[in-house]
Amino acid sequence: MPPATSAPATVATTTAPSPPATGAAGTDPVGRPAPSRPPQSSPLQLLLKYDKPVPRYTSYPTAAQFHSGVGPADLAAQLARPSEEPLSLYVHVPFCRHACWYCGCTRITTQLGSKVVAPYLKSLQLELELIAGLLPQRRRLAQLHWGGGTPNYLNAEEQSQLWNLVTRHFDLEPKLEASIEVNPEFIDQAQALHLRALGFNRISFGIQDADPDVQRAVNRVVPVEQLRRVMGWLREARFESVNVDLICGLPRQTPERFHTTLELVRELRPERISLFSFAYLPQQLPLQRKIAAADLPSQRQRLAMLDDASQLLGAAGYEAIGMDHYALASDSLAIAAREGRLHRNFQGYTTGGELDLLGLGPSAISQFPHLFSQNQRQLNGYNAALDAGQLPVERGLAVLEQEVLERRALIREVMCHFRVELELDRFASEWSDLLALAADGLVTLSQNGDLGLVEVTTEGRWLIRTIAAVFDPSQRERARGSRLI
Ligand SMILES: C[S@@+](CC[C@H](N)C(=O)[O-])C[C@H]1O[C@@H](n2cnc3c(N)ncnc32)[C@H](O)[C@@H]1O
Ligand code: SF4
Repeated sequence: MPPATSAPATVATTTAPSPPATGAAGTDPVGRPAPSRPPQSSPLQLLLKYDKPVPRYTSYPTAAQFHSGVGPADLAAQLARPSEEPLSLYVHVPFCRHACWYCGCTRITTQLGSKVVAPYLKSLQLELELIAGLLPQRRRLAQLHWGGGTPNYLNAEEQSQLWNLVTRHFDLEPKLEASIEVNPEFIDQAQALHLRALGFNRISFGIQDADPDVQRAVNRVVPVEQLRRVMGWLREARFESVNVDLICGLPRQTPERFHTTLELVRELRPERISLFSFAYLPQQLPLQRKIAAADLPSQRQRLAMLDDASQLLGAAGYEAIGMDHYALASDSLAIAAREGRLHRNFQGYTTGGELDLLGLGPSAISQFPHLFSQNQRQLNGYNAALDAGQLPVERGLAVLEQEVLERRALIREVMCHFRVELELDRFASEWSDLLALAADGLVTLSQNGDLGLVEVTTEGRWLIRTIAAVFDPSQRERARGSRLI
């Protein structure tokens, strides 16, 4: 899954382009013909012109706005509200056996295995007990996601323990979507069967790039034969949906090498593909300093790779979903996109975005319509809060203003459905920024009385975050003085 709670904070500020999201046969994800207009610049020129840091908008406001004024009492008050609605539960498993040098996820590299897992499960148990004690009634889960780090760092017995901890406090809906991220380096057939037997019906594993030279350059070597074996085991275990993660922009990647990776993915035929653009932030992520900037592909090469992915996957029956996902037409994400039900949260594009999201574990984010709360990001701080009998909330954001909620809805529409309607008298300066983007062929604009309709063009889909940023005052502030919005 896209790294959002678990998602690498870094990806949230990547400057890299996103793949165009044309649907099958020139239609958009909801089946309409994609509006087109002759671009005045080539896609590469547009990318270079607009290539500035823009959030990925897995939330609005973004995590960059979180502050320590939000704490345990805010989450406690939120949890104490009665609700009959099911929840989405995210469990963060922060451990990894080794570090992949590109990685921006919140994680801990350790070889200690059960020595770190046992106390961690104890902490999760304390956190769950605190939460359950605050909920006025037992709640159901419609979605459960284990992310990381590496959830399959846990052995089978530890996985069962964690599953039982969750089910001790929550009821599972019959149609529960239970998903887990695994590292393919060390999953085996027994583990695949065990996860399925526990109740997981969706699974995701990272390929990133299948080329041995690229893999060595990022310290993550997984032979193609192992990737094929893993997919075979997941199919035998009958997971309903398999996702693979790819990254475009890794060191020593070339369009030719990436094409081979894409051909492997076409052969493996997962239901979903996440294609992230490499967020290279060596200033913030010391591990990434092991990657030389000179080894990174050029923007032209990145564009060629994303274009190739769009064409090859499109021809193989995948529909482009939102900014960075592909899914087979029969997959629930593709169906949600076609029906206009796509949402976006810290886990990326989702079908259940209207649900309250409760996050467990260090760095995990909980999301309610009027509150974000993020747990302590350091394991020590997280453990200390729980030992003191407190919810381990470190920071967050209360979202009460109507205008902020409206902007959130506008950004979500743009990011998920590539079109949005707005009241012209209230968003006049945004409209004038959009006119500049329209002149570059990124959007088409039309007016109907007091309403303006914005439709993202095929070219504009590469720069969807830039278009969404028009509705984000903090980004407009940053961009003041430059031509970009
Ligand atoms: C928690 S990991 C996936 C599960 C498992 N740990 C693994 O490595 O297979 C989440 C995903 O985030 C993506 N990711 C991590 N760091 C990134 C970065 N700097 N830029 C883009 N994508 C990144 C990778 O595709 C990775 O598979
Ligand atoms: S195994 Fe996954 S979470 Fe861990 S460092 Fe590698 S990509 Fe990041």
